[in-house]
Amino acid sequence: MIAPSLLAADFTRLSEEVRAAEAAGADWLHLDIMDGHFVPNISFGPAIVRALRPLTRMPFDVHLMIAPADPYLAAFAEAGADLISLHPEAGPHLHRSLQTIRALGRKAGVVLNPATPVESVAHVLDLVDLVLVMAVNPGFGGQSFLESQLAKIATLRGLIDATGRPIHLQVDGGVTLATAPRCLAAGADVLVAGTAVFGAPDRAAAVAGLRGGRA
Ligand code: DX5
Ligand code: ZN
Repeated sequence: MIAPSLLAADFTRLSEEVRAAEAAGADWLHLDIMDGHFVPNISFGPAIVRALRPLTRMPFDVHLMIAPADPYLAAFAEAGADLISLHPEAGPHLHRSLQTIRALGRKAGVVLNPATPVESVAHVLDLVDLVLVMAVNPGFGGQSFLESQLAKIATLRGLIDATGRPIHLQVDGGVTLATAPRCLAAGADVLVAGTAVFGAPDRAAAVAGLRGGRA
């Protein structure tokens, strides 16, 4: 599945951009939430998520790059997030945060930064619906894919399969027509792409190309 990241969209035309992503065949909409503290950039918050929610049927995949995250989980759930992902480094008790997301009736994800080991998620897999591997350091779109993360994706695919549960394995950062096939081959099943979709002249062709097919 393909989840375009709204971070690379034209912020003066957000509603049109969301509709364009859906028309292009996107499966989920990836929403990058940055606080200028956990990452060196600021994006947008729950008010924007809420405003966009009625525009599309695409599930909202909210990637929290904020610390602490716990005080805002309910706000993002109420704003319309279907899935909420957070980083283990964002708070003292990852297990509790995941329990909170589940209690809010939303799917829960854990995000591993390039330097964060696979072991960080090993003991919470029973609580997650998605594991996200960052192939760039979080904070900005348009960065280069870190090859070192391919081995992590493959390791996680094995861990996830061993659970027997339907946990998605997502990759975010530097996903392009060149790197997407390598992510899929390593075992990923959801690809986040900002620049490669919203920066493309033909977004339907971009989404189809990332998926491995043709427009
Ligand atoms: C980075 C974000 C990514 C980013 C991806 O912190 O989590 O979702 O928008 O952008 P591209 O696809 O341009 O690397
Ligand atoms: Zn993201």
